[in-house]
Amino acid sequence: MKLLHIDSSALGGHSVSRQLSAEVVAELQRLHPGIEIRYHDLAAQPLPHWTPVADAADPAAVRGSEMLDEFLAADVVVIGAPMYNFSIPSQLKAWLDRIAVAGKTFRYGPNGPEGLAGGKRVIVASSRGGMHAGSPMDFQEPYLRALLGFLGIDLVEFVRAEGVNMSVEHKAGALASARQAIGTLGSGVAQAA
Ligand SMILES: Cc1cc2nc3c(=O)[nH]c(=O)nc-3n(C[C@H](O)[C@H](O)[C@H](O)COP(=O)(O)O)c2cc1C
Repeated sequence: MKLLHIDSSALGGHSVSRQLSAEVVAELQRLHPGIEIRYHDLAAQPLPHWTPVADAADPAAVRGSEMLDEFLAADVVVIGAPMYNFSIPSQLKAWLDRIAVAGKTFRYGPNGPEGLAGGKRVIVASSRGGMHAGSPMDFQEPYLRALLGFLGIDLVEFVRAEGVNMSVEHKAGALASARQAIGTLGSGVAQAA
């Protein structure tokens, strides 16, 4: 069983999404001893923006195709995803640009688009400073759900801490509810919406 773990927060040791994604991975390790883990810190080692490939040996192209291969090989993907300006960090967008590849993770057929990367479990550790669940200004979680759905992943689970910058109490409550969701990972879906 292969697990791909992605972090994208720029806040290092202060990051809530990093803390939660690590706790999700620890719980999955506990549930599945021997699970094989690949980790990428997209803030420490940012991916270059996608550009057309002039030379397949170009290090940026090689790294991009490694990202795609690891995503395709993973049974479980854990993504640490903060909200930045109502959306996701550009570092995470650069990774999505490497894994959304026509002919590999989606294709257009006679019936329209078809996702080719189904069958994975994807868990997003989501953090946001304010409260956004259900808001029309939330372009973070719905975007991730839509993009991953386009790739064939019908159900994206969210472990969410929001309102973390509103007050100490809000942050503590948000972490407690995220940890409660992590505690349910073994029994199925943590939080689908
Ligand atoms: C560049 C930047 C943009 C942000 N934009 C928003 C935002 O639009 N809405 C919001 O609620 N919080 C926003 N925040 C707050 C973060 O979502 C919050 O601090 C969250 O915990 C960040 O995740 P992290 O702790 O894993 O880094 C922003 C933070 C940064 C650094």
